[in-house]
Amino acid sequence: MVVRPARLNPPMQSVRLLDPESGLDGVIAIHSTALGPGAGGCRFWQYPNQEAAFDDACRLAEGMSYKNAMADLPFGGAKAVLRRPEGPFDRAALFRAFGRAVEALDGLYVTAEDVGTTVADMREVSAMTRHVAGLDPIDDQAGGDPSPWTALGVFEAMRTAARQTLGAELADLTIAVQGTGNVGANLCRRLADAGAKLIIADIDPRRRNALGAVLNAQIVDVEEIASVEANIFAPCALGGALTAQSVAGMKARLVCGAANNQLATADIADRMMDRGIVYAPDYVVNAGGIISVSAEYLGEDIASVAARVDRIGARVGEILALAQQEGRSPAWVADEMAERIIAAADRQAA
Ligand code: NAI
Repeated sequence: MVVRPARLNPPMQSVRLLDPESGLDGVIAIHSTALGPGAGGCRFWQYPNQEAAFDDACRLAEGMSYKNAMADLPFGGAKAVLRRPEGPFDRAALFRAFGRAVEALDGLYVTAEDVGTTVADMREVSAMTRHVAGLDPIDDQAGGDPSPWTALGVFEAMRTAARQTLGAELADLTIAVQGTGNVGANLCRRLADAGAKLIIADIDPRRRNALGAVLNAQIVDVEEIASVEANIFAPCALGGALTAQSVAGMKARLVCGAANNQLATADIADRMMDRGIVYAPDYVVNAGGIISVSAEYLGEDIASVAARVDRIGARVGEILALAQQEGRSPAWVADEMAERIIAAADRQAA
């Protein structure tokens, strides 16, 4: 039985983006501005139709509201989804057109990179609007690639969760990491430094082999990684790693990783509880990236990013303790905490 509360459901605001000249075709979805402007990256991907892009934007914008609230950020949740043109197109012109659309919202939405977009794209956006982050860093100001901050937050969360739920230090544990991309590889290096034993998998053989050799990690097939003999499973590839099938075969007792939307469906959280697997909620664990991006937008320095990322471990610890006390999935406990934060801001604004 799924015992999660209904998710916050404020009316989603959306802006259709269409500029045939540059090929811009997409949507900006704004889920909540209770805590501040809607902040969330810009995804550039192939979608079969506008409806699919819209649905993805809404789902991702909702997720950003929860993530930003739990990271103590003065931002609501939003996301842009742009459909990648099928034929040739002028990338700079397309992102400048997107920048004009962001500017027209006058600060209601703040954008940055997401799947399919780069620092170079955000530079084009920044020619049209200042409501963009994920640009090159200046001196000791926040900015640049957010992945190392995401990896640091995952590491801190994992260390706290391992102590609390497994009663062990990372040095005494085996960790299975699914996906050795920007975040996964950085996380693996931190875990190896901490003395953990690593098992890794990636669909890209170059990535997994290079990392495996450097860190002396065991390499397994992607189909095997979720069910290997490990204490912790860290999904760091794409979303949906936690399915009925992967959870049924999982030996790990703790799941803590960087990927967004790890639960393939909501009921998986309760299945994990039934199997005695502790789930550290993805959007709390992986907030390091948005913390860096939002600090850049606010003109804060690296020290303030470090301080906020440092709090991720404690927050995950608080969620896991409460979940254990109440006998509920940490996923629902985190959702409720986020909803309380957003509702309190809503009341203050009213
Ligand atoms: P990335 O694209 O650099 O790395 C993903 C890696 O996963 C790639 O090496 C890819 O080959 C691999 N992969 C894809 N499918 C796989 C599969 N089925 N099995 C094993 N490996 C597979 O992406 P990045 O930036 O490292 O992000 C990883 C995850 O963390 C994503 O879900 C992303 O949305 C999430 N995330 C990333 C943040 C960041 O700061 N980069 C912030 C918050 C979340």
